[in-house]
Amino acid sequence: MSDQAPLASNGDRDVRQDPHARVRDVFDDWATRGRAEGMETGHAFGARAGFERLELAPGDHYLDLGCGNGYTVRWAAPLVGDEGHAVGIDLSPNMVERARAASAGLGNVQFDESAFPQHCLPRGSFRGIFSMEVLYYLPDLDGALLEIARLLMPGGRFACVVDYYRENADSHSWPDDLGVPMTLLSMAGWRAAFETAGLAVREQTCVPWPLEPGAEPGWKHTQGSLLTVGELPA
Ligand SMILES: C[S@@+](CC[C@H](N)C(=O)[O-])C[C@H]1O[C@@H](n2cnc3c(N)ncnc32)[C@H](O)[C@@H]1O
Repeated sequence: MSDQAPLASNGDRDVRQDPHARVRDVFDDWATRGRAEGMETGHAFGARAGFERLELAPGDHYLDLGCGNGYTVRWAAPLVGDEGHAVGIDLSPNMVERARAASAGLGNVQFDESAFPQHCLPRGSFRGIFSMEVLYYLPDLDGALLEIARLLMPGGRFACVVDYYRENADSHSWPDDLGVPMTLLSMAGWRAAFETAGLAVREQTCVPWPLEPGAEPGWKHTQGSLLTVGELPA
């Protein structure tokens, strides 16, 4: 009998060699089917709440981890201006392709196809780092938070928005629904993970979404998105 675990990815890729393979396949497929633009619309309210906590200013350097079609990079571009720059990282080639196409003509933006934290960016590169609905997909969340702390300049902020978290019971089926492993943390768990990485928690709050006229309230309107804002002490 073989002592090897069964393959846990589709196609011929093996998650023992590439732990990101399944997530890449899922989001490549979403991008192909137009869901990147659907996420831009569907995530905008919660994303905007987190993004504004960064208080970006001209000359700042901004990073969106798991940027999807790059919509927050385009929000950041006019704020940081030509003295600054805005970067999006995503592991899905199809997402990055859409982000680049939608951002054509912007001189201060850049998109990298890479699986965070597998890259070599210098320490202290960014004043603001943002992530919407991404961090729980990362196989090594604690390592990723350490890398985020390393990439922030002293006094820089990280705004993290997640809808998959312990207190949002309606989200708990998502790993089975999508067929990808996800890290489920409580609000206290997120706070502790930030602090362990050296990020002081400036704010943690649930952001309930406004109810559209005539719509039935769901978890977005009652529980809301979890926003945690960390800061690298100066
Ligand atoms: C739910 S989508 C959110 C996209 C975007 N933030 C938004 O709000 O529309 C998650 C995104 O994270 C990306 N992603 C997942 N794990 C990643 C990793 N380790 N490094 C970079 N991107 C990752 C996926 O490819 C996907 O585009």
